Parts: sequence; structure tokens; C-alpha cells
Amino acid sequence: MKPIDLRSDTVTRPSPAMRRAMAEAEVGDDVLGDDPTVKRLEAMVAERLGKEAAIYVPSGTMSNQVALYTASERGDEILCETGSHIISYEVAAPAVISGLLTHPIDGELGILSAAQVARHVREPNIHCPRTRIIALENTHNRAGGTIYPLETIAEIEMVARKHGLWMHLDGARLWNAHIATGIPLDRYAAPFDSVSVCLSKGLGAPIGSVLSGTRDFIAKARRTRKMFGGGMRQVGILAAAGIYALEHNIPRLAEDHANARELAEELNRMPALTVNLKAAQTNIIAVEIDPAKMTVPDFVSRLAAKGVLCIPFGPTRVRFVTHLDVTAEDCRRAAAAVGEVVGA
Ligand SMILES: Cc1ncc(COP(=O)(O)O)c(C=O)c1O
Repeated sequence: MKPIDLRSDTVTRPSPAMRRAMAEAEVGDDVLGDDPTVKRLEAMVAERLGKEAAIYVPSGTMSNQVALYTASERGDEILCETGSHIISYEVAAPAVISGLLTHPIDGELGILSAAQVARHVREPNIHCPRTRIIALENTHNRAGGTIYPLETIAEIEMVARKHGLWMHLDGARLWNAHIATGIPLDRYAAPFDSVSVCLSKGLGAPIGSVLSGTRDFIAKARRTRKMFGGGMRQVGILAAAGIYALEHNIPRLAEDHANARELAEELNRMPALTVNLKAAQTNIIAVEIDPAKMTVPDFVSRLAAKGVLCIPFGPTRVRFVTHLDVTAEDCRRAAAAVGEVVGA
């Protein structure tokens, strides 16, 4: 039987309808600016985020890194939450590619306050790196899919503007924040100079992210993308999947959130497990395992043997993520399998 795969919302497979849209896509050489489907996707994302322009890139990592490179100079400093994707999972790219000093700040469930950001901005001084970028993540993956309050973003923006910082949003799952709160995407995006969104997570496209900002910034980002080797040719085939995802798969994220919430509550009832239900706001569930009861590798492999997949997420932590290829019934079966593994 096919396993119930809750490792990530990136494991989804394109549906037959999405594949049809891909097969029928009109294409051209996108590096030469000739691919109408890519242009349509970029325009759609820019419009939804309220930005002047956007650029299609292969991955969320490249999208973040193109933004950081384009917005900074070597020797600059970027402020990030300690558990952010940029710090945790991008292979030190800010240092390796852009020569940036990454300055981690511990957030509360991944969320920074304006006062924290203000405390870490350096005054101009010949001895010091120049604090140049503040990057936020909404929703925050490692914190368990937590949502940035709009007021907090507005307060951070005031600090950023005062000090001339660039505001970057890693909005890989901004769609989830939008659906969970009802706050329009363009309101979430407005305080930021650059916004990265992913099509290949909850929205179910096989590949692709989009970086948005001003026309001038995106023109520069186009050069950066080319330098990174991310210029693609008849890539409308993939962009068509992104368009399909935007048109069909955003409202249904509410189902993923409901499934995740039910699963989180179920797992939290098991004595060997703890889920911070305050963090279970969208489609990600971070689960603490009592180390006296079971190790993470043991838990993961015993659960896999029962046909349910999750992913290690720390020394005593695993992650479950709901998405469009798992149903409410799958999540109930997954909870029952976890119960058998931990003897609940
Ligand atoms: C918050 C966040 N940002 C960026 C990325 C990077 O996306 P990609 O895997 O497409 O490089 C991820 C991937 O899971 C993510 O969770």
C-alpha cells in the first residue's frame, strides 16, 4: 500500500489536470524573454502580491539567495531568526555566494519583535559590518508553521526604514498564512522590498518559486539569476503547473490546516509526545518525543514500517506536514499508527 507521506508538503505529485496544463503550455526561450507562459505566471504573482514585477526561479532557496545577493554588497550583514530556512537549510549560501555575515536572533515561535530587531542593527562604524537586510519567514517552517502577526511586521518595517534596511520576506508558505488568517496576500507583502513565494510546497506544483519586487530590482535579479545558472529556456512547461496551482490550489489549503490541527491535537494527547498547539497554526506539526520513551530514529523507522512517513526535525523532534495528497482519513490513520508506535 502507498505510504501516507507526511514528511513535507513538497512530496505532492502533479495531478492529471496539472499535467494536462503543462503539456498544453505555450513556450519560448525564457532567457531571451520569449516564454509567454512564464511571463503570465510572473505577472500573476506580481499582481497578487501587489508588486511591480516578478521573476520565476527554480527553487525557494535560489529565490532567497537571488534576493539577498541583489540587495547587498559583500561584507554586509543580514538579520534572520535563528531557526529560519535561510540560516538552517540553505547550506551557508549567504556567506558562500554573497559574502554576507548572517546574524541569528532567537524569536518566539520563529517570530521576531521590532525591539529585538532594533537592538541588533549596528550603527555605522568603520570597524563594523553594515547591517543591510532583515529577512522574515512567514509562515515559519522550523517553528511549526507559525504566522507573523501583521502588526509585528509593520513595527519591524518602521525599524527597517529608520535604518535603511532592506526588508526581505521568505514567503515559501505565505499562501498558508493568507488562508489561515484571511489577510490578503498584498497586505502581507506590502512592507517588504522583496518577497519570495514557492509554488512547489502546499500548492502542489512540481517545481518553482517566484521572487517579486520593484521593476528595477527584478531587472537586477534577472542578471543575478542568470549568473547563478537559473536562467531556463522553454520553462513555460513548468510555469504552467505554477499557474494551475495558483488558480486551483490556494483555497483548499484550509483543508490542510484543519487536518493538521486534528492530527496535532490527537498526537498531543499521547503521553510520550508533546505538540505546542499554539504553534500548530497552519499545515506543519512539530512533535517533541520524550527521549526517555523513544529516540527520533526509532520513532521514524517504526512509524515508516506502519506505512506513515515523517521527518526528523531535531534531537527530540519530528515533523509532520499535511498537503493536498493526504486526506483527513489518512491523517486519522496516521494518528492511529503513531499511537501504536508510542504505545498510547
Ligand atoms: C520557509 C522555506 N523557505 C525556503 C525553502 C526552500 O525551498 P526549496 O526547497 O524550493 O529550495 C523552504 C523549503 O522547504 C522553506 O520551508
